[in-house]
Amino acid sequence: MSKSLPRNERPWWRDAVTYQIYIRSFADANGDGKGDVAGIRSKLPYLKQLGVDAIWITPWYPSPQKDHGYDVADYMDIEPDYGTIDEAEVLIKEAHDSDIRVIIDLVPNHSSDQHVWFQEALKAPRGSKERDRYIFRDGKGANGELPPNNWQAVFGGSAWHRVTESDGQPGQWYLHLFAVEQPDFNWENPEVHTYFENTLKFWLDRGVDGFRIDVAHGMVKADGLPDVLDKDSASPEMLASQRMPFWDQDGVHEIYRKWRKILDSYTGDRMAVAEAWVSPASRIALYLRPDELANSFNFDFLTSKWGLTELKSNIELSLKAIQEVGAPASWVFNNHDVVRSVDRFALGLQPGRGETTLDRHGDIAKLDLQLGIRRARAGALLMLALPGGAYIYQGEELALPEVRDIPEDRLEDPRWHMSAFTDKGRDGCRVPLPWSEKANSAFGFSNNLELEPSEAWLPQPQWWGSFSAESQEKDPSSTLNMYRRALAIRHSEPGLGDGDLEWVDLGKDLLSFKRVGGFLCVVNFGNETKLPDGEILISSAPINDSVLPQDCAVWMKVK
Ligand code: NOJ
Repeated sequence: MSKSLPRNERPWWRDAVTYQIYIRSFADANGDGKGDVAGIRSKLPYLKQLGVDAIWITPWYPSPQKDHGYDVADYMDIEPDYGTIDEAEVLIKEAHDSDIRVIIDLVPNHSSDQHVWFQEALKAPRGSKERDRYIFRDGKGANGELPPNNWQAVFGGSAWHRVTESDGQPGQWYLHLFAVEQPDFNWENPEVHTYFENTLKFWLDRGVDGFRIDVAHGMVKADGLPDVLDKDSASPEMLASQRMPFWDQDGVHEIYRKWRKILDSYTGDRMAVAEAWVSPASRIALYLRPDELANSFNFDFLTSKWGLTELKSNIELSLKAIQEVGAPASWVFNNHDVVRSVDRFALGLQPGRGETTLDRHGDIAKLDLQLGIRRARAGALLMLALPGGAYIYQGEELALPEVRDIPEDRLEDPRWHMSAFTDKGRDGCRVPLPWSEKANSAFGFSNNLELEPSEAWLPQPQWWGSFSAESQEKDPSSTLNMYRRALAIRHSEPGLGDGDLEWVDLGKDLLSFKRVGGFLCVVNFGNETKLPDGEILISSAPINDSVLPQDCAVWMKVK
């Protein structure tokens, strides 16, 4: 096992634990039922105590919120419902004062249809420079009445929308790989490059430490926008088993080389993390070459079922692929796009790889919540012991389950209507956080004491308070306290974080590996079993007489 550079000599992003804040659902300081910048500021002490190294804030820009901020109307300002630029700068400073880095979301694949450029494009004629900032094409068919190709939008339906020209006649079509209100930029146009380079600098000048790049594998489309060959595989899923003409095209790497130069021109190890739903790991590694991006989420890990063989082979393949380019791993089990791991691990779901709604959401009648929580806790200790960094999603530290009973008339995810009301989408993992046990002030989510749980922007369930941070504070065995202890150990154990691991064979149902300094992590997928001699640092479930129960993980120090 090789040693890595000491912590203070390596870039922070090689092994940071980053906490994802879905701003709309994190904490509401102005009492309007939506989270905001001031809400994040108020929770910095909580994040400090939790022990995370960085936060990633989902899009906070002015936006009509058709996809909750991923439809950006202005890249260099803050959504008025969330605060102001001045407040954002104060937040960045306060986070830094607490030793917490700040990563913000950048959405370069598409803008909102309310972005000034798109509004100009709609008014301008075909062939104009205004239209060339987006992907406009004439339709097929005698009168251009058919979409230019067979691409499907990720949220459902055709990826093309026909506009009405200024003479009132049906005209060209524009590409939107996501919602209709999210037109794709044309990355063949140098103006688009300059615009985003300026956006990077705008925020770097305001002190942000990095960017999470939305749909980082999508900006460049194949020449000529060819049809997806096999009609059936025009699948709108993000994690494609084969490369699509709109995913993972080689041209994206040129963009990242330019961006890396900008990031490196600032002090303080500024970074970017790719949301690139690409597979296998060797394709991810391309985004992580030394002159490209710092991190890329490991979505093969996120989409793994709870099981030794699948998780272990993913870990092995990922580490091998990224070590070849000298990059660190970025482990992740949850984010705002997937059913929470508590439910997934209980039901064996594979988000992003499923074809049907049932694959995505699972059969609630079969859900064993306690089993899911047990596995999610064990998964957390596994993830935090692996070499590299980890991303945790708000509420993961509370073992929040998916909320499955949001009334249909309250669903907000564009997936719901774009799938012709067949797919309930992602709202179930985005319900505003429960901070306190009592229901008033929307379980402590809001500073407005009168706000009912049903009045938060997504309604909270009655049982939400039993998972609250307040109730978990009091319980030494809670998931919140497990995360706090694990993160504290991670900071004090020199062998954790960056580096590599050594597999050890302790039995057929055990996933076990060592890190530098006699650190051992064991996860039990089978019947209870005796642990080797050593000091137990932490476990995801109670351990008596050195017997490791099923679906439990333990960290130990051994000789
Ligand atoms: C990925 C984001 O995580 C998701 O929430 C969003 O809907 C799409 N990209 C489109 O921006």
